[in-house]
Amino acid sequence: MQVRRRRRRTDVSHDPSTYDVALVLRTLLESLPPGRALDLGTGLGRNPRALAARGWTVDAVDLSRAQLERARDRTVSRDHDGVGQQAGEIAWILADVDSYAFPGDAYDLVTISFLDVRDRLPAIQSTLASGGILFYEHYLESPAGYRGSDSDADHRPGPGDHYRFAPNELLEACRDLRVLYYHESLVDGEPRVTLVARDDADGSRPPLELVSGGGLE
Ligand SMILES: C[S@@+](CC[C@H](N)C(=O)[O-])C[C@H]1O[C@@H](n2cnc3c(N)ncnc32)[C@H](O)[C@@H]1O
Repeated sequence: MQVRRRRRRTDVSHDPSTYDVALVLRTLLESLPPGRALDLGTGLGRNPRALAARGWTVDAVDLSRAQLERARDRTVSRDHDGVGQQAGEIAWILADVDSYAFPGDAYDLVTISFLDVRDRLPAIQSTLASGGILFYEHYLESPAGYRGSDSDADHRPGPGDHYRFAPNELLEACRDLRVLYYHESLVDGEPRVTLVARDDADGSRPPLELVSGGGLE
């Protein structure tokens, strides 16, 4: 049996928190009634802020105290500026996803942006309430020889291939969910994967009706 070296964290020197929340997630949020959400590896809190602004109650988990403090400060200052227009609550939770005791059937939505938590996907799927949705965006392995827009792969912004998903890996890892959207693409020259999947154990739910009607890309 091939033993794979344990893959851990995404490179925190790359700061995706300066980006907007993904279009796929924004489109999804327009189509879902607010509920209870969990954001893993929350960083500076861009996902939980977007969720809370739409009335979601969010548990935002990160293992870095400094990141959580910055996320909280950023959220408070945006509220004071009137930018955040926070409607739902955010609980900032200091914890390691690798050992986190996820409550069962708890969340209507779990969001994960740029954190490699492959090993915890079964527990993450179990924390979805019936009909709950998983949104996961992450880096994808580069095709052999691919160097992106930069001729020196060491200077590319994302993590090394060790922390990236192989083609179709996330799709296969989520086969117990109903996959509503799966896309592997280049974003600014960076290979990425985005998945939206739903806990649909009894297969009774129709495809998600997207408010924008125009698709997710
Ligand atoms: C690349 S940042 C992504 C931040 C955020 N999700 C975003 O996209 O804006 C990864 C974050 O995951 C956190 N992290 C890394 N490993 C973790 C773990 N095992 N448990 C919880 N958080 C973790 C880091 O502290 C960092 O804040």
